[in-house]
Amino acid sequence: MNKMPEFAILKVGDKEIQLPLVRGTEGDYAIDIARLRAETGMVTLDPSFMNTASCYSTITYIDGDNGILRYRGIPIEDLVKLGSFTKVAYLLVNGKLPTPEQSRNFSHLLNISSLLHEDMRHFFDHFPQGAHPMHILSTMINALAAFYPNVDLQSLSEDIDSSTARLISIVRTMAAVAYKKSIGEPVVYPRCDLKYCGNFLNMMFDSPVRPYVVRPEIERILNILFILHADHEQNCSTTAVRTVGSAQVNLYATISAGMSALSGPLHGGANQEVIKMLRLIEQDGNVDKFLKRAKDKNDPFRLMGFGHRVYKTYDPRADIIKKECHQLLETLEIRDSLLDVASEVEKAALNDEYFIERNLYPNVDFYTGIIYRAIGIPEDMFTVMFALARLPGWIAHWKEMIGHNTRIVRPRQVYIGKPRTPIF
Ligand code: SDX
Repeated sequence: MNKMPEFAILKVGDKEIQLPLVRGTEGDYAIDIARLRAETGMVTLDPSFMNTASCYSTITYIDGDNGILRYRGIPIEDLVKLGSFTKVAYLLVNGKLPTPEQSRNFSHLLNISSLLHEDMRHFFDHFPQGAHPMHILSTMINALAAFYPNVDLQSLSEDIDSSTARLISIVRTMAAVAYKKSIGEPVVYPRCDLKYCGNFLNMMFDSPVRPYVVRPEIERILNILFILHADHEQNCSTTAVRTVGSAQVNLYATISAGMSALSGPLHGGANQEVIKMLRLIEQDGNVDKFLKRAKDKNDPFRLMGFGHRVYKTYDPRADIIKKECHQLLETLEIRDSLLDVASEVEKAALNDEYFIERNLYPNVDFYTGIIYRAIGIPEDMFTVMFALARLPGWIAHWKEMIGHNTRIVRPRQVYIGKPRTPIF
């Protein structure tokens, strides 16, 4: 391949300017347009930022054409084998895997941060029955700012570390409390003898009349799902975190903004929508009818769990989750007819011109819900699971953004409204 030049040449009318090319670690190039407006008086237009890099980052690398995902350079397949969500959370937030001592300290921080302030527990008594747990969680995370000291640019690193652990740990407790309140059962407190995922399962499913035993295969699959969801570079919710955080909003309100973005059905809310869709297809019995609807521009129906802004091949996470899904259901001796429907839909779509032409493949959300059903997670908690997993990713991006004295995010626009229209 010819050597890349140092500049892109932009010719506008009789004006020609040079725009520097910047090169990423993996040979990806970008045109640095920082001087564009100063030199041409013009801005670029790129709705939804389909062609725009918003920052430099060292956290996660995705190659959408070859289905590659790495956290801090480590392939996702290796991190899944590591099997510890808390170690991967530490990697994302701190830039390297923890030493045994750092691991012990992080686990200690997660443990001492796992209890919800008793005054906050009473907040849950006032949410209406049926309130979606994602709305409850984004509210409660915002409320943390009233109970705990804020961290920002001037904070000491240990304050940032303890706030990080608090968010990763306490939001997990909040999620379990929201679930217990929704079913009218007594809240189960975190235990110091259980690890992160086992503690969550116990807080969700233990009860005074039905003691819960954390099964290793379920604790394992939850670690794997959390690892696979932990970060994904500049996705919609992470961009929300970077944008809100750039105004030097406190960490809790910043993360709450990420929660809200993730709850959307086109983003993290898709895992719940996939199950609803599979159930609809199962009841109707006609897969082709739904593929036809998904292809019809006049029909708002989309094949949920399919397609991705970056991956134009099989989402590497979906590949792992699909294999783990079949293995888990076999281990637990569970027959879920929705898995058969999912396999049928995937087969039909991957052989359909419309999906092939547009490089639409299953994404991380397509099989996840079937695993959550198998381990007893209620459907309205599916996106909460995604959020718990994504917390370290959001925090890592917030830390990276504040660490670079990032200026406030404030894009420009192309105004196409009315010309000057005086009323007097
Ligand atoms: C996540 O960004 C991330 O990294 C997100 C995420 C993460 O880890 O943070 O990976 C998590 O959000 C995964 C995506 C979950 N959402 C869904 O599964 C919802 C269903 N998917 C689609 O809504 C869609 O594929 C998106 C939202 C995921 C991507 O949207 P894009 O990139 O804007 O895709 P597009 O609309 O430009 O699609 C290109 C074409 C269009 O058709 P044409 O206009 O070219 O004719 O593909 C079509 C789209 O209509 N298309 C679909 C489709 N997805 C895209 N058609 C039918 N069903 C679909 N699912």
